[in-house]
Amino acid sequence: MSTDNLFLCASNLRKQYGAETPGQAPVVVLTDVSIQIKTGETVAITGASGSGKSTLLHLLAGLDGPDAGNVLIDGLSVFDLNESQRCRLRNQKLGFIYQFHHLLKEFNAIENVAMPLRVAGLNRIQAEIEAGKMLTSVGLASRSTHYPSQLSGGERQRVAIARSLVHLPRCVLADEPTGNLDEVTADEVSNLMFELSERHGIALIVVTHNRELAARASRQLALSNGLLTS
Ligand SMILES: Nc1ncnc2c1ncn2[C@@H]1O[C@H](COP(=O)(O)OP(=O)(O)O)[C@@H](O)[C@H]1O
Ligand SMILES: [Mg+2]
Repeated sequence: MSTDNLFLCASNLRKQYGAETPGQAPVVVLTDVSIQIKTGETVAITGASGSGKSTLLHLLAGLDGPDAGNVLIDGLSVFDLNESQRCRLRNQKLGFIYQFHHLLKEFNAIENVAMPLRVAGLNRIQAEIEAGKMLTSVGLASRSTHYPSQLSGGERQRVAIARSLVHLPRCVLADEPTGNLDEVTADEVSNLMFELSERHGIALIVVTHNRELAARASRQLALSNGLLTS
């Protein structure tokens, strides 16, 4: 593969849990996982519950460290950075969508969407202008002052999508983003995710059990027995 437009390159990742706990046999979750993500590419990762999908996404985002292996984001070795450099890299270049939205309940929709821009240092007015545009593109302009508790599951996920994209990251990592939604709403949410990622040229790595959602990605990978296969 040409490295010209390579955004993320993970090689030989190994991760085990429990080695530090006396009396517990360590559980090797990832044995030897390598993955390369090109700019703007969409990749689906499937696998049984407990196969290590969330663990892998956390390693790719530098949220947790591997026992072996390396992750390069835009050519930077994520685990050679210090914690604050790593946070900055994450904040600038990555977006996240989770199964259970993870919106902050004490903030309304527009404030939640504006959060990555506020963290990046934009003032409130600038951040909320951009957040408003992104809420409009997920069809929720009229709900901007509503709090998460006042929104449906699908609406909360749309707010979470807007939040993951508002700072125009290079790559969005989505962990079972439709896992908690009914079929029709799941379709709407996945359409939106793919449309927006395509419109903005943002790579998408999506972990999912939903076959239709997985089929929309340009590549499908499966995680099983600690290995990722195509
Ligand atoms: N912090 C942790 N400590 C110990 N075991 C963990 C931890 N996180 C995950 N695991 C174990 O690692 C395995 C993979 O978990 P996970 O990555 O969440 O799988 P998936 O997302 O595919 O359901 C599971 O057996 C889980 O119990
Ligand atoms: Mg998981």
